[in-house]
Amino acid sequence: MTDDTQLAEGWPPGRGYLLNHSAGLPPRDAAAALSEGLFGPWVASDDQVWVHWMKAFDRFRAALGEVINHEAAMICPQPSVTSGLSHVLNAMPADPRRNRLLIAERAFPSLGFVLAIAERRGFELVIIPESANTLDPDVWERYLDERVHCVVFTHVHSNTSECHDTAKLAELARNCGAISVVDVAQSIGVRPVDARRWNADFIVGSCIKWLCGGPGAGFIWVNPERLAACEPTEVGWFSHSNPFEFDIHHFEYAGDALRFWGGTPSVAPALVAAHAMESLLEVGLGHIEDHNRRLLKALCGEVNPQWLVSPIAPAAQGGTVVLQLGERQDRFAESLRGAGLQFDVRKEGIRLSPHFYNDGQDIARVVECLP
Ligand SMILES: Cc1ncc(COP(=O)(O)O)c(C=O)c1O
Repeated sequence: MTDDTQLAEGWPPGRGYLLNHSAGLPPRDAAAALSEGLFGPWVASDDQVWVHWMKAFDRFRAALGEVINHEAAMICPQPSVTSGLSHVLNAMPADPRRNRLLIAERAFPSLGFVLAIAERRGFELVIIPESANTLDPDVWERYLDERVHCVVFTHVHSNTSECHDTAKLAELARNCGAISVVDVAQSIGVRPVDARRWNADFIVGSCIKWLCGGPGAGFIWVNPERLAACEPTEVGWFSHSNPFEFDIHHFEYAGDALRFWGGTPSVAPALVAAHAMESLLEVGLGHIEDHNRRLLKALCGEVNPQWLVSPIAPAAQGGTVVLQLGERQDRFAESLRGAGLQFDVRKEGIRLSPHFYNDGQDIARVVECLP
């Protein structure tokens, strides 16, 4: 199937919607899928309501496993990327000789907040300044030494759309004995996330953006080699090896990544995200990436190269085009708004991100707005 209209069949028209870096559009039948999965078991007056709800998490983890090329057992649902990082940081045994936490200034601030709070526990936060080119692995190598406990990499930066060679960075971290955590919030669904190939220690992400899965569907992936050493401090009956044992004197970590879970989990986000991922997997993630790249190429070919904040080289290019027109920025934004296009603005530039349900007409409308 190559016809875009056909491919986008399950989705709302979405014409002019270029905010996929923020919240991808759910499939047209998302509300029905949510209603059926969440309320269906209640309406049926079924006394096995949790048995039905648990299926949402099985579907969520299975679909995500396919998306990131790894086992569902190594994935744990989380409310957000931030909570994923916090859980990971608290779970890993600390080595008093290694107290540094490393992150780039361009990373999403929420993750920096988690690391900064960890200073209260004796860690020292080191931030690679915005002026450094984090696409260059040598820059990271300069900071990665025997003092680094944990390093947070961002696969694609949200405000510049720079895509990093995560496999290379994870290797550098491993070579210096640091724990690597990769944030894929801004790439998953539009650029390949390959847990097996990258061989990082942890991946944290969410489904709200390119996976069209709505808010609340975050996750942790843990490398099986690291699992046994993980002792999460935020626990609950769902992180117990036998949640339905109900013995207050006995807690044993779940044998898989669910040890990162906690108390009663939120069913609704898992249902919406599982449904969206299953639908996108049918479309094909390869097609989604190719389509996005085609539209980015069409747009980048029409703009003054000096306005481009986001990279143009395919290996370094995330799914978003970021444009900075200087003095003409406000007028450009006004024209885009006037044309009914949906986008947002950061200090780095105007962000425009086409999904597979966007088409050449959306790009033509953006181009018409250029000064
Ligand atoms: C790269 C990146 N990481 C993390 C987040 C947010 O994560 P959370 O799920 O904690 O809100 C965003 C949100 O835009 C992001 O772009």
